[in-house]
Amino acid sequence: MTSDLEQLFGFLRFPSISTDSRHSADVRACARWLVRTAEDFGFEASLHDTPGHPVVLARNVHREGRLNVLIYGHYDVQPVDPLDLWESAPFEPEIRDGRIWARGCADNKGQMLAHLIGAGKTLRESGDLPVNLTFLFEGEEEIGSPNLAPFLRDHREELACDVIAVSDTGMVAPGVPTMDYGLRGIACCEVILRGPERDLHSGLFGGAVANPATAVGRLIASLHDADGRIQVEGFYDDVRELEAWEREMWAKVPGVSDGDFLKVTGSPSLFGEKGFSPAEQTWARPTAEVNGVGGGYQGEGSKTVIPAEAMVKLSFRLVPDQDPKDIMAKVKGHLEAHCPAGVTVEVVPGHDGKPYLTDPNSRFGKAAQEALRNAFSAEPVMIRGGGSIPIVQDFREILGADTLLLGLALSDAQIHSPNENFPVENFEAGIRLNRALLEALSKTRDV
Ligand code: BES
Ligand code: MN
Repeated sequence: MTSDLEQLFGFLRFPSISTDSRHSADVRACARWLVRTAEDFGFEASLHDTPGHPVVLARNVHREGRLNVLIYGHYDVQPVDPLDLWESAPFEPEIRDGRIWARGCADNKGQMLAHLIGAGKTLRESGDLPVNLTFLFEGEEEIGSPNLAPFLRDHREELACDVIAVSDTGMVAPGVPTMDYGLRGIACCEVILRGPERDLHSGLFGGAVANPATAVGRLIASLHDADGRIQVEGFYDDVRELEAWEREMWAKVPGVSDGDFLKVTGSPSLFGEKGFSPAEQTWARPTAEVNGVGGGYQGEGSKTVIPAEAMVKLSFRLVPDQDPKDIMAKVKGHLEAHCPAGVTVEVVPGHDGKPYLTDPNSRFGKAAQEALRNAFSAEPVMIRGGGSIPIVQDFREILGADTLLLGLALSDAQIHSPNENFPVENFEAGIRLNRALLEALSKTRDV
């Protein structure tokens, strides 16, 4: 029989990059591998086509009177570029310094496979699980899950559940079990500024027409004031203030001091909204970020040209109770109102997702804390995640169930970056966590 790690390595070898259509067949092959793997463990598994990448479902035999638990994960990964910064090939996993190195090992293949292996082993050893379990694995999380909400609506009965568990978040520090009881939402767009009808000689025309690349700089600058506060009118209208108990609790969380943030980011200094710690800034405050900017000559040496157009890709991280559609409308209004003279602006909205917030001390939340305590032999901390998993709020709205976010990645996991990594011990802890979680959740039935 293959070992757990060998199984993970097999999973990691699929370049299941969801955003790149050249990898569609790899994404599909990866989904088929999941079906086979789940079946080998004794689950009933199926592959479901969508207009995009497939969804994989797997379940044990469901019995009357037991808790219905759904475990979600994503088998797609982010692109690997810049490739030359990887110390080992992204789809040829290897172990160095006790860590697995490969694209997707932390986000999300290692975390999700730990659950499949954990439950699979329990099923093999005991012939049954203490709950009715359904696995839902998608291949489009990294592109905003465009087809998953419709899939949930179409399979509402089949996916009906009491609670959902997801391991696709982080741990604040090694050995410190971490539960997220919130996630930020997101709204993305691409902005195109157009000037002259073609690139112009900057000597012949410079000074007489506006330069779109200059204009894009001014437009970006209009988003924040000098202290980093967002200037889009009405942007903060629906922002829910942090609760006093959260600030107090977070002040004691390890791994998120100013020094920790400086170390993990390698930035020369911290910068952000005044009056909030880095943990508060990233877990409970909204942002406006430039994810990409371009225009004009990018090649070697200089080229004296006024580019015909320039662009910027923006994303906004949102917190309760901001609504992504409302924010995008406000952003569009701001960009149009602040478009510098002499150019035109086009705002193309991209994908979005709502923020999420739940009670960490609900009866399921308490069971999850107990499971984390057992799996790691340490006291769990409760935080909110700065990242986004848009489907989590859809789960609540469509399936009527809340999600337990039990993170296993470290803050230096380098997810979405070169040299993504995941400690072997976290993978093993994830396998233990699944067992402890199903056990603890099954007991919530008796109370
Ligand atoms: N696993 C992350 C989200 C995450 C990481 C949440 C750490 C909390 C803590 C997820 O795969 C991700 O990267 N999501 C994207 C969503 C987007 C593409 C819609 C994100 O947050 O950028
Ligand atoms: Mn991700």
